[in-house]
Amino acid sequence: MGNDDGTLDLTGSRRRHGDGAERRAATGPQAATGPQAATGPQAATGTPSATGPRSAAGTPSAAGTPAIEVSHLTKVFGGRTAFADLSFSVARGEVFGFLGPNGAGKTTTVRTLGTLLAPTSGSATVAGIPVTAENGVEIRQRISIMPESPGLYQRLTVAENLRCFADLYEVPEPGDRIGRALRAVNLTGRAHDACGILSKGLRQRVALARALLSEPEVLFLDEPTSGLDPVAARDVHELIDGLRRRGVTIFLTTHRLEEAERLCDRVAILNTTLRTIGRPDELRDQLFAKSLIIRTRIPIADPARVFAGLPAVDGWHPDGHAYVLAVADPAVAAPAVARALVAAGADVLTISESHHSLEDVYLELIDEDQEASWR
Ligand SMILES: Nc1ncnc2c1ncn2[C@@H]1O[C@H](COP(=O)(O)OP(=O)(O)OP(=O)(O)O)[C@@H](O)[C@H]1O
Ligand SMILES: [Mg+2]
Repeated sequence: MGNDDGTLDLTGSRRRHGDGAERRAATGPQAATGPQAATGPQAATGTPSATGPRSAAGTPSAAGTPAIEVSHLTKVFGGRTAFADLSFSVARGEVFGFLGPNGAGKTTTVRTLGTLLAPTSGSATVAGIPVTAENGVEIRQRISIMPESPGLYQRLTVAENLRCFADLYEVPEPGDRIGRALRAVNLTGRAHDACGILSKGLRQRVALARALLSEPEVLFLDEPTSGLDPVAARDVHELIDGLRRRGVTIFLTTHRLEEAERLCDRVAILNTTLRTIGRPDELRDQLFAKSLIIRTRIPIADPARVFAGLPAVDGWHPDGHAYVLAVADPAVAAPAVARALVAAGADVLTISESHHSLEDVYLELIDEDQEASWR
């Protein structure tokens, strides 16, 4: 991604992943679901710094209020509920991941918050403004939506498309804005190609450039990396990182869980209703107990005696040629376990902390929903 005009700093920074382990028995996913979890203290953690992001559009209005606040929001189409009773808030400058299986209601939520659809019940504010039909224009001036399908004029060139949308959005100094948007998505060299001859990934980038034209405070990205090759997807990730540094709030729907884990301050998992919300590491810790995996050259003669009474070790079970220890704090347990194993004469090959990803959290919750629907 280019940043030669200095307005978009697009250097990506990798985020570190925490660890989790065994599925937690005491605090199952129920503990994290429901409006309490969505709006409670968990929902407030992981939000960006108190200094607050500066508005990308330079609009000081409603500073200090969340970028998005949703309360008991529901959308029903005829007899089909697209999403129900959503309550959550997104801080200004936050990158918020919105995950869920096909048909979970993600796009409908985006369209509702983007004032393209009226909610059936509940309320929301976006960029500090209540979502109502009367406020639609004002909200749309402060936000941008990159939809699931790019929606470009195939026979017009990239630059012509952007010019059309710049005129539609009435952006000031459209020539400069178009230039910046093209550089941000690395498409300057294709500005005069018709959109119809571009590859899917390139069209996706034009759609992203289109979403950047209005330099929004809140940017909704609906599966922005769907169908992109790994390098192009990484470019989009770097662009999102750059926007984050400029203080833009990003509401990101994606099926790429590693993308959400890498980019998002917090994620919500939706399956018509909100299943959970929190920082990826928090969700892992809520759902999975921590554990140590011990591997020895030959089986330990009396593992129950070796593992009994060790600090921070809550239990253990054999797992093939390994032993899995449920631990309260791996940093306390691991040295004690190592000493006990050596004292027992065990030939230790490895002691490692088991790792759970956001994908494990997602699959656990969504599988649970599926099993419940079969019962
Ligand atoms: N205009 C509409 N009329 C009737 N039903 C709709 C309409 N738009 C969406 N739906 C239904 O609402 C539900 C949620 O759809 P939505 O597009 O929000 O899902 P999604 O989470 O974005 O899924 P995907 O991951 O496949 O993009 C689906 O059952 C869908 O068929
Ligand atoms: Mg969708």
